[in-house]
This record gives sequence, structure tokens and C-alpha cells, in this order.
Amino acid sequence: MEFVVGIDVGSLSTDAVILGEEENILGYSIVGTGDSSTDAAREAMDSAAANAGVDMVRASLIISTGYGRAAVPGSGRQVTEIACHAAGAYHFFSDTELVIDIGGQDSKVIRVGKGGKVLDFAMNDKCAAGTGRFLEVMSAKLKIPLDQMGTFSLAARGEASISSVCTVFAESEVVSLVARNFPKEEIVKGLHRSVVNRVWAMTRQMSVKGGVTMTGGVAKNTGVVALMEERLGRKINVPAEPQIIGALGAALMALRHLKGAAAG
Ligand SMILES: Nc1ncnc2c1ncn2[C@@H]1O[C@H](COP(=O)(O)OP(=O)(O)OP(=O)(O)O)[C@@H](O)[C@H]1O
Ligand SMILES: [Mg+2]
Repeated sequence: MEFVVGIDVGSLSTDAVILGEEENILGYSIVGTGDSSTDAAREAMDSAAANAGVDMVRASLIISTGYGRAAVPGSGRQVTEIACHAAGAYHFFSDTELVIDIGGQDSKVIRVGKGGKVLDFAMNDKCAAGTGRFLEVMSAKLKIPLDQMGTFSLAARGEASISSVCTVFAESEVVSLVARNFPKEEIVKGLHRSVVNRVWAMTRQMSVKGGVTMTGGVAKNTGVVALMEERLGRKINVPAEPQIIGALGAALMALRHLKGAAAG
């Protein structure tokens, strides 16, 4: 065996990880999903292979996950995102007992046991509030790039109160706050608070005592992470590249599958 591939086709990003036999990451990529899951999967795999300096045709097994997992060319197996985020988070932080994955269109909290096994989970996929999409809409409205939302939020002295839970109504609130010259930093912090509150509503039922790890693109938002830490009353583990954790989990499963097959 040379290497395996994990690929996570999400609503916003498609991420691929190339993993060597020792669970070592040889290369990875993050590309926009766009209109075609198949094209995005191909692009992500080619780019990760180039990054790793390997030839995709030599992959021993490709495992796909994410909402577009059925559209991945060459996929030998499909696995749920829940199991993948749990396995990927556990790989980097073995104290993980809870994973919070906030992606583009849904948010999930996963209670994790020994070895990264899924014990329980809750998911919000009914409403954009509490997801990355909500923050994308607001970043466009405020004309603040997504990757600067965290810095703005951390610089806020006070905080705007956003009372609407619905994205559309919250957007009108933002427009009116901007019109009243409310500091943008404080608006951003209020928006982050609203995301955290939504996710907290799922998290608090899990009553976890051990490590908490955040995955998915929103974990790159330092403002959301800071407020979540405040809510939890402790530090959160954030992987260096939180967006590839689902793909990493899929690749780990591919490796285990092959090793299991070889041993059995
Ligand atoms: N550099 C960044 N800084 C802050 N936030 C970011 C950054 N990059 C991405 N995001 C956030 O991450 C979200 C996308 O996350 P991710 O790529 O994990 O979603 P996805 O896996 O495609 O979606 P899903 O799992 O819901 O199908 C965006 O909506 C955005 O809010
Ligand atoms: Mg995702």
C-alpha cells in the first residue's frame, strides 16, 4: 500500500487529504464546491495529489464523506460526516470528548468516546442561523471579509444585541445598526454571540467534562472560538487546519479498513 485518500464534499468547500501508512498527512487541499460535486472532488483530489507529489491512480482506497459524497469519482466507500469529524478530531487531540463542527450549511455537536468513537450527536441543518452561511451573509452585508471577522470581534469594546434568531431578520437588524453608526466591531461580536448561542443550545445537553475540539471552517473564526470558550468556561482545541478534519477522518477510516482487511 502506498497511500489512501479521504475526501469531504461539503456545501461550501471540498477538502481532500492524502494519508501515508503511518497516519501521516502527505498532502491536502481545500477547494470551493461550486455547482458540481464531481468536478470539485476531482479538482480537490488532483490538487492534494500534486501537493503530496503522488499519482492519484496509485491510491489504495478513496473514502468519501460530506453531503456530496455519492458524487466522488473512484470512491470505494462512503462514510457519514459525523464519524469522520470524530475520528479526525481525535487524531490531533486524544483528549477530545466533544467535537463542534460548524460548516457552511449545518452545525453539529458530537460526543466522542475512546479511540474517536461516536457516542451521540446533535445536528442543526434546518436553519442557516448558527452556521457558517449566517456569517457569510453578514460578512457581505458589513463588507468585512470572512477571514477578518474574528479580528473585528476581538477588538470590540461592547457588543450589539442581535435579538432575531432568523438570518433574514438578523440581517435587517444589522442594516439598522449600521445606519445608526453602531461600531462594526460590536455588531460582529453580537453576530458571533448569536451563532454561539445556537450551537450552545445543542452542546449543553451533552454535559461533557473532557476536551472540546472545534472543526469546520467556522473554527477559523477566532471571534466565534473565543465566545464559545467563554460559554464553556475552558479552552477549546482548534486544529491548525480545521477545514480538512472531515477529510482526514475519512482517510483514517480508509487506512484502518485496509489494515483490518490485511489482518483479517
Ligand atoms: N478564513 C476563514 N475565516 C473565518 N471563517 C471562515 C474562513 N474560511 C471559512 N470560514 C467559514 O467556514 C464556513 C465553511 O465551512 P466548511 O468549509 O467547513 O463548510 P462545508 O464543510 O463546506 O459545509 P457543510 O459541512 O455544512 O456541508 C463558511 O461559511 C465560513 O463561515
Ligand atoms: Mg463540512
